[in-house]
Amino acid sequence: MKSSKNYLALPQQLFGKLELNRNCELRSDLAPLMAKSSSTGCTHFELNALYQHIVKAEPKHVLELGSGISTVVLAHAAKVLREKGKECSVVSMEESRHYHDELHALFPKALLPYVRLMRSDVEDRRMGGSIARSYRDTPRQAYDLVFIDGPQIPKEPEYLDGDLLNVQSYNTKAFVAYLDGRKSTRLNLMRLMPGARFKHNALHKWTRIDIPEKAQRR
Ligand SMILES: C[S@@+](CC[C@H](N)C(=O)[O-])C[C@H]1O[C@@H](n2cnc3c(N)ncnc32)[C@H](O)[C@@H]1O
Repeated sequence: MKSSKNYLALPQQLFGKLELNRNCELRSDLAPLMAKSSSTGCTHFELNALYQHIVKAEPKHVLELGSGISTVVLAHAAKVLREKGKECSVVSMEESRHYHDELHALFPKALLPYVRLMRSDVEDRRMGGSIARSYRDTPRQAYDLVFIDGPQIPKEPEYLDGDLLNVQSYNTKAFVAYLDGRKSTRLNLMRLMPGARFKHNALHKWTRIDIPEKAQRR
């Protein structure tokens, strides 16, 4: 798990951990996964932001780009909604066979009905001076929530994680995305998505992106 070197971020990370621990099943699923997984990932602040968004906003279709420990948190939040009779399912994309297979082996079996773990190659597309890297096989759905933490991209500033652009191109309704770090992705998306609202949390290197319904996009 990623931990911030900025000590100002620590209280909110601790708060996030305490909030997540209120879900006892989630707490007991996370601990062994964190001990065994070789995947690096989100902080507790970020995991809690995703969990709280799902249980409060009740998205029906969730897309995660870059699978890992966060996938367990998303699946638990989907389970909370489904136990209330609401619809919620998670698609999680991963390009690395190693990380995909490892997560599949470690993933709590009881959570598999809530998430589709998908391994996919990636492809690059040139777009207005940028190079957008996307998963080739991302299912085309009207996602309500997109969490961008992959695919891995070169460090050059013209590269970005491009799946959000694909979802925006066909999704006519308003939806929300969260972006973990990934500065070049943020800066390129800000240029390529003028109709979206970006709210960047510099302390946690965490960005919320609100994409309005298609008719209101410029
Ligand atoms: C930083 S991981 C985050 C995974 C997940 N969203 C989470 O927060 O738990 C994002 C991508 O980096 C790659 N990755 C995971 N662990 C890694 C590691 N230890 N070293 C290098 N790349 C890693 C995987 O391909 C993964 O999809």
